[in-house]
Amino acid sequence: MKTILKVQDLCKSFEDTQVLNNINFEVEEGEFIAIMGQSGSGKSTLLYSISGMDRPTSGNIFLCDKDISMLDDEKISEVRLKQMGFIFQQSYLLKNLTIKDNIILPGFKLGKVSREQVNQNADALMLKTGINSVAENDIKKVSGGQLQRAAICRALINQPDILFGDEPTGALNSSTSREVLDIINSINKDGKTVIIVTHDVKVAARADRVIFLMDGNIHDKLTLGKYDGDEEKTNTREKELYEWLEEKGF
Ligand SMILES: Nc1ncnc2c1ncn2[C@@H]1O[C@H](COP(=O)(O)OP(=O)(O)OP(=O)(O)O)[C@@H](O)[C@H]1O
Ligand SMILES: [Mg+2]
Repeated sequence: MKTILKVQDLCKSFEDTQVLNNINFEVEEGEFIAIMGQSGSGKSTLLYSISGMDRPTSGNIFLCDKDISMLDDEKISEVRLKQMGFIFQQSYLLKNLTIKDNIILPGFKLGKVSREQVNQNADALMLKTGINSVAENDIKKVSGGQLQRAAICRALINQPDILFGDEPTGALNSSTSREVLDIINSINKDGKTVIIVTHDVKVAARADRVIFLMDGNIHDKLTLGKYDGDEEKTNTREKELYEWLEEKGF
């Protein structure tokens, strides 16, 4: 297995408050990692610091063996566009564009492949996530679940090395959330590395490994192994995770 991300002695402070203290971990290619912890424990700060959306105060982040912690703003934006995909609680799609135009936009911006190829990739992603029938819709004329699927397609249009998510199902109801999670698991099964911040046991139970943050430190890690969708095994994973979290007073 190849290490795709290596986080070394990562610290992050806001003014004189240290929010992340010496974080160290590695992620293998194809892994699905969930980051959990109490509100304010530093989950989003960690995600933003490792994905170049924010800068670490000190420490190193190696993405595919390349240290990205020292890159200037222009270079880090390029790395994000080329090698990283992001999904958040809200979809942040542009409201003057159709669903499909939102998805192809980062592809055109990167310009790595022809516009025709970007279009084809967008069609394939929309088909995979089940939103091809609303491709030409205005973003106000689709459901919350469809919006989030579109956000996933947009995140994947440039075939990034890692898909990052910060509470990607946080605004969805439980059945829509399950559908979106099935898509994320299926993308991961195809080999994409996924790192997601979540409060939700049902989300984290689908990850290979869970990292638990407490006051800006990695407090503990739990290995669950690959999720295969089996209902009985899913219940067992959720129970194991729930008990593990309960020990930590979560
Ligand atoms: N831009 C900022 N400026 C100052 N302090 C910040 C900033 N961003 C985060 N913090 C502080 O860092 C700590 C960790 O915040 P963070 O958003 O990473 O927590 P979180 O674990 O994602 O919480 P939640 O579950 O509520 O989203 C908090 O105390 C927060 O107030
Ligand atoms: Mg957060």
